[in-house]
Amino acid sequence: MRTRKKPWTQRELATNDHIVHEPALYKGRWREYFGNDGPVHLELGCGKGRFLARMASVNPEINFVGLERDPNILAAAGRNVADAGNAALILGDAKSLAELFGEGEADKIYIQFCDPWPNKKKWAKRRLTNARFLEIYRRVLRDGGEVLFKTDNRQLFEFSITQFSAAGWLITAVSLDARGANAAGGNAFPPTEYEEKFMALDMPIYQLEARPLERKAEKDKEQTDAEHIPPREEQASGHEVAGRGHREQSEPDNGEEGQEGRGEGQRRG
Ligand SMILES: C[S@@+](CC[C@H](N)C(=O)[O-])C[C@H]1O[C@@H](n2cnc3c(N)ncnc32)[C@H](O)[C@@H]1O
Repeated sequence: MRTRKKPWTQRELATNDHIVHEPALYKGRWREYFGNDGPVHLELGCGKGRFLARMASVNPEINFVGLERDPNILAAAGRNVADAGNAALILGDAKSLAELFGEGEADKIYIQFCDPWPNKKKWAKRRLTNARFLEIYRRVLRDGGEVLFKTDNRQLFEFSITQFSAAGWLITAVSLDARGANAAGGNAFPPTEYEEKFMALDMPIYQLEARPLERKAEKDKEQTDAEHIPPREEQASGHEVAGRGHREQSEPDNGEEGQEGRGEGQRRG
């Protein structure tokens, strides 16, 4: 999403009291910031904040924080959430999330219509569902906390499923066309700005929810992996049992190779 520089951006960023200027100060203390013990939900790449404003208005018991790296867009979001007492906005990048939120501090993370960074392998690491980002989300989510991910881009969706699975997340819900759920009233999530555009074009909306292994289960798994002594034939064949999981997760481009050249059109970069 590209925006023209707006003359009012700086003023809005400086004066809008929903925009948190030193968000790292609240790491581990976001409930103090909101003045309650309610759940904390994060939206990454929140755009102009329409989703956040709608969610905040129908869920007054939940504290919402939107993160957006484009100052012009964040300024617009500031105006859109002006009436929400349970919403805050941060100018920042998703890759810095762990500097802004404590371990297990978030109950839910929304990633909606993020840039697909199509086709080029070297761009895979920029996708917000890349394994490296998933590791950050795992740290800030509480046990049982989930990511809701929506996209119009099938290649990105397939890539994301591969990344969540390889990182050991449990995919708890998948829809290859979330518009059906919307129409049936079964979808608790209001559409974002981009989602409205895609629905108007009659395009499918891919959606999934996923959660990482709980911390105890993860520690048990690490211990089991550490205790596992590979049988002699595996060692002799150079098959690194203990390193297998690590390799899959640290090479987030794996899922992309097979997607290239399928010919599905790309609209955004
Ligand atoms: C295509 S727009 C979608 C906006 C909104 N989520 C929606 O569905 O209407 C993607 C947004 O994510 C923001 N963005 C992209 N990468 C980001 C990152 N690493 N951290 C924070 N924001 C990011 C962009 O500036 C842009 O506003």
